[in-house]
Amino acid sequence: MNTLRTIAGRSFRANLSRWAVRSTATRHLHATTTQRSAAIFVHRDSPDNNPNIPFAFSTENLKTVDRIIAKYPPQYKKAAIIPLLHLGQRQLGWTSISVMNEVARIVDVPPMRVYEVATFYTMFNRKPVGKYFLQVCTTTPCELCGSTRILDTIRKHLGIEVGETTKDGKFTLVEVECAGACVNAPVMAVNDDYYEDLTSDSTVKLLDALKRGEVPPAGPQSSRKNCEPIDGLTTLTTEPTGPGFGVREDL
Ligand code: FES
Repeated sequence: MNTLRTIAGRSFRANLSRWAVRSTATRHLHATTTQRSAAIFVHRDSPDNNPNIPFAFSTENLKTVDRIIAKYPPQYKKAAIIPLLHLGQRQLGWTSISVMNEVARIVDVPPMRVYEVATFYTMFNRKPVGKYFLQVCTTTPCELCGSTRILDTIRKHLGIEVGETTKDGKFTLVEVECAGACVNAPVMAVNDDYYEDLTSDSTVKLLDALKRGEVPPAGPQSSRKNCEPIDGLTTLTTEPTGPGFGVREDL
């Protein structure tokens, strides 16, 4: 029995070491350069983002803070971290270290607990962003409908790369995963509004209008109505059948 175990153990170890050699030899998962997020995940104190810069919620927002916290049992105040960070970002325009510290103070947790949340969710901008925050979706459906062209158009037209802000502080460009409007791909969010069915031309027009301080109507920038098929209905084109349709007459 012991001999068998020894043999089995040896052969397992031999297989393991063969597998290890094979797996290290063939461990190339990416054919192209790994894409990294535009944001770093650690905080570095800087003149415009350090804990000595005070942040406090406005009187109006303090009422919202109370409303948010009241949704959770008193011992689970920390469940309010995400909505409070979101509120802080709405007020300041971005999520500074002072916003995070204030949220930690309000929900009574060590600041690290809030840093963990804010660095995990890329929707929290831990650097100031431009007046118009451009989020271009480059996930598969948008990519297949030309999102790379849209991204290139924006980069050339504004003279910035992904993750950068224009010198006049008007535009920040980032790339995002599915924005949830694939049916109208390619899609870009400008602050809270979605601009869909974009082409290079309509993107340039949109950017120029924003530069002039105009905000064009959001939604499809094509002839499409909402998210209906662009060439008219392809299904549900006849009157719907009434109750009892297809049921045997003798029933
Ligand atoms: S893939 Fe772009 S919105 Fe879904």
